Amino acid sequence: MTYQIAIDGPAASGKSTVAKLVASQLGGYYVNTGEMYRTIAWAALREGIDPETQESLLAEKLVGWQMECRPDGQGLAVWFNGEKVPGAELRIPQVSAIVSQVARIPAVREYMLQRQRDCRNLPLIVMEGRDIGTVILPDATCKFFVTASPMERARRRFAQKEEIAPGETLEKLAAEIAERDRIDSTREIAPLKPAEDSLTIMTDGMTPQQVADTIIRTFRQRTS
Ligand code: CDP
Repeated sequence: MTYQIAIDGPAASGKSTVAKLVASQLGGYYVNTGEMYRTIAWAALREGIDPETQESLLAEKLVGWQMECRPDGQGLAVWFNGEKVPGAELRIPQVSAIVSQVARIPAVREYMLQRQRDCRNLPLIVMEGRDIGTVILPDATCKFFVTASPMERARRRFAQKEEIAPGETLEKLAAEIAERDRIDSTREIAPLKPAEDSLTIMTDGMTPQQVADTIIRTFRQRTS
């Protein structure tokens, strides 16, 4: 018997923090699928490929690229062409600016599907992303849609000091997050949306541990 907890939600909704807490408190593996898309965006940037205008070139390159997830402490680290990709590189503003363009390319989503589904072999995974409950793990043990108001999300990201370009303001960051959500929720394949059988958690005013407790309680009820 293996167990999967699927957590989807918009950008900067606090999914990663919560998913890590849940994984460590239940003794499972944390899987961040956003990092996998960011890895492809980072590789495209390094090769000077524009995902918006050079979609077919990116799809061609993808065939020769090797990406895998290997257990690494409490989570799975992304390895790309034999190197472990440093997490900080994946969160630079240049990567954030193009990642949603990369993630809407059909070949990229196809590339991710099996790699992410392979994680089901682990005894317990807490997988977070945009299409985990709807596409990747439709039979997950339980599914959650973790969200927060747009301003609250911009504030959280700003406080993390991640993805902040020099001269960035809260308003600019909020606009960038809103644009990413727009592309993610309107794309044709696997758009960001709650699965029909997911529980939506609106997290404004909640601490990460309170959100994690809600998820853990639901999981325990489901599996007892
Ligand atoms: O951390 P944050 O919520 O800002 O984003 P992320 O989880 O690192 O995901 C970065 C981007 O990857 C998203 O904006 C999506 O465009 C894409 N993504 C996706 O399309 N499907 C997933 N399962 C995960 C991420």
